[in-house]
Amino acid sequence: MAPVPLSPVKVGHIDDVQELRNAKPTTIPERFVRDMTERPTLATALSSTSDIPVIDFSKLIKGDKDEVHSEILKLGIACEEWGFFQVINHDIELSLLESIEKLAKEFFMLPLEEKQKYPMIPGTLQGYGQAFVFSEDQKLDWCNMFALGVEPHYIRNPKLWPTKPAKFSETVELYSKEVRALCNNLLKYIAMSLGLRQQAFEEMFGVAVQAIRMNYYPACSRPDLVLGLSPHSDGSALTVLQQGKGSSVGLQILKDNTWVPVQPIPNALVINIGDTIEVLSNGKYKSVEHRAVTHKEKDRLSLVTFYAPSYEIELGPMPEFVDESNPCKYRRYNHGEYSKHYVTSKLQGKKALDFAKIHTKISN
Ligand code: OGA
Ligand code: NI
Repeated sequence: MAPVPLSPVKVGHIDDVQELRNAKPTTIPERFVRDMTERPTLATALSSTSDIPVIDFSKLIKGDKDEVHSEILKLGIACEEWGFFQVINHDIELSLLESIEKLAKEFFMLPLEEKQKYPMIPGTLQGYGQAFVFSEDQKLDWCNMFALGVEPHYIRNPKLWPTKPAKFSETVELYSKEVRALCNNLLKYIAMSLGLRQQAFEEMFGVAVQAIRMNYYPACSRPDLVLGLSPHSDGSALTVLQQGKGSSVGLQILKDNTWVPVQPIPNALVINIGDTIEVLSNGKYKSVEHRAVTHKEKDRLSLVTFYAPSYEIELGPMPEFVDESNPCKYRRYNHGEYSKHYVTSKLQGKKALDFAKIHTKISN
């Protein structure tokens, strides 16, 4: 019997946020207006008093023994208590950060017809458009995205690599190489902070999968009603986020049930733990829920790299993190299957990880 074709997902009309903003600067269509409970209230924005930890990468790689030791301890605390940190002195040339940012901006400023030459197909995460939309009544994010699979090469869709602006693709390539090296290095120190061998993750991951996503958040006349990006955790092992220069505060992380804004530090990169590390460490390091909010007058750009194990890898909590007082919280699964599950589900807090969660019965 012939296979039954899957019915295409009905996602309804999706406005391009930049076009919408340009044509009707004060209109917020219903599909972008969040339910009361999801709206970014003023109270949450003001409630933060502490900033996420800052890790000095140069101390990790060039410091004396004591500096390395204390920075690794700091890194461990950052991963365990925050799941997020900012890295300074990361060794990626400032000029490269500036070029990728400039080119990304130029890309988003191209006419819509030009950007639509690289359309994102619903249920995939490559190309230009709105990702993670799976139904006609789903609320939309106040954001335009452009995403590309970068490594290994077989995940690339060459048709989606833009020819404009000039040097865009070349720069993505160069930037991704540098970010890959940073991820590799950070994972070594993260492994050490967990008491593992330096190479533990690298050996386990195989040829790591790497993707880049550029998020452009146009200014919004009613930032109190919309979200730039819905709450989610990242399906990666590690995520590296570069915030555009002079960006408004936009990224917020959920800590102790409060949305804490991440104050951009010039030239620093924001790093967060993704679902893979949460699973491998049996929940010791958590992939923390985060979201993006918009600004009334300023637009915002973020460049996000996702670094994850090879798709054929089997993952589950490492035996080092499982004992009587820490029962195994996640089942073993194939990372490729998890990735597929992640990109075909709407962003909804930490729901994607239910895929692997073992729900332990409460005994009495
Ligand atoms: C992401 C993300 C936040 C931001 O792309 O996964 O969390 O500030 N982005 O753009
Ligand atoms: Ni994210």
